[in-house]
Amino acid sequence: MYQLADRAVEYAQKAISADKAGDYETAVKYYKIAVDFLTKYLMLYPDAPLADFYKELIGKYKQRIAYLEKIMAEKPREDISTGTNSHGSPGGHVDPSAFEVLTPEQRSKKTFEDLVDLESVKRALKRTVIYPVKDPSLYPLGWPKGILLFGPPGCGKTEITIALANEIKAVLINVSPATVVSKWLGDTEKNVKALFTIGREYASKGQPVIIFIDEVDALFQQYSVEVGGEKRGRNQFLIEMDGLTSKEYANIPLFVIGATNKPWNLDIGFIRRFERRIYVPPPNKEVRKQLFEHYTKKLAEKFVLEQIDYDKLADLTEGYSSSDIVSIVKEVQNNIVEEINEKGISPRNRKIKTEDFIEVISKHKPSIDTRLLEVYKEWNKQYGTYSED
Ligand SMILES: Nc1ncnc2c1ncn2[C@@H]1O[C@H](COP(=O)(O)OP(=O)(O)OP(=O)(O)O)[C@@H](O)[C@H]1O
Ligand SMILES: [Mg+2]
Repeated sequence: MYQLADRAVEYAQKAISADKAGDYETAVKYYKIAVDFLTKYLMLYPDAPLADFYKELIGKYKQRIAYLEKIMAEKPREDISTGTNSHGSPGGHVDPSAFEVLTPEQRSKKTFEDLVDLESVKRALKRTVIYPVKDPSLYPLGWPKGILLFGPPGCGKTEITIALANEIKAVLINVSPATVVSKWLGDTEKNVKALFTIGREYASKGQPVIIFIDEVDALFQQYSVEVGGEKRGRNQFLIEMDGLTSKEYANIPLFVIGATNKPWNLDIGFIRRFERRIYVPPPNKEVRKQLFEHYTKKLAEKFVLEQIDYDKLADLTEGYSSSDIVSIVKEVQNNIVEEINEKGISPRNRKIKTEDFIEVISKHKPSIDTRLLEVYKEWNKQYGTYSED
């Protein structure tokens, strides 16, 4: 059964090499064969473990085919592989499918207000982003463009970045290892150039832009064996970051926000470019209590709640991330729904109790490694911008 998938991978690899080498005609031919094999495979094995992944690949290859065909029809002889011309200046063909550009209409509407606590982070982001965007003229000395959010997993780095984007109505350009692996087709250097070109184009017209680089450590760490031009990609990123501090761009509302759980994996060149380094801490007891209240309140729209002992829930969840708490409340919901279905009772007749939460908590392990918290603190002391918080 794997033969079809193997052939698909084989042709996809050929397509990608041809694509990189600039032989778009061949690339298109091979992408099409790869799509063909994957489609057949999915018809035969719709429930295969990798089915979703293959569907995604098909979509991406098709996009690439459409893009290459369009460009070949327009300009047969130019450097079209990613969009920027050889000088990297704006105005070349930028392939927008290489980035996830989320306009305010295309993402969650949450703002700072919708997020529990994270007060120190919100304050830092107001200072660093919101006020400069509000009135750039108050900053004759310019302001930092690079911001690193670091802290344990599941504690709000991604969520606060989306909320920030909503606060300033920014275009959010999302880059993560997944986009880079699947869409950049190994051509990191050119795509980094194109990424900043797109960002500057929006921002030069006054539109606030956030380039969000999730898992920035994974994207830019050094590997012992480097084959895909990773080093050039990293250097290009550093060059682009430096460019943002130049006179020409000093006042445009463009910010680069990197997020990481492992700031210690970043090399010093990157750390320096992210001039503001903000710790996104795990929820303490009081915040865990608020998180339980926040998410349980939503359950109250449908179910009847008994007096819930939130203090106790907070006590029982030391070392649990915000994301853990969301999962726990969701699991309580699922248990209740299962029960009312099994027993054929009405939601009104099954009150939600503290014990329902305790039961779920006892089966859910905390995802924060508390030993690492000391390491974050230490890193924050050394590199953090607001480490006194
Ligand atoms: N302050 C908060 N208020 C309400 N919900 C929160 C808060 N912080 C995090 N969450 C919820 O927790 C989950 C995880 O948050 P998020 O994805 O932002 O974490 P993260 O720090 O980016 O994690 P990772 O490092 O794994 O990418 C989301 O469902 C989010 O809605
Ligand atoms: Mg995240």
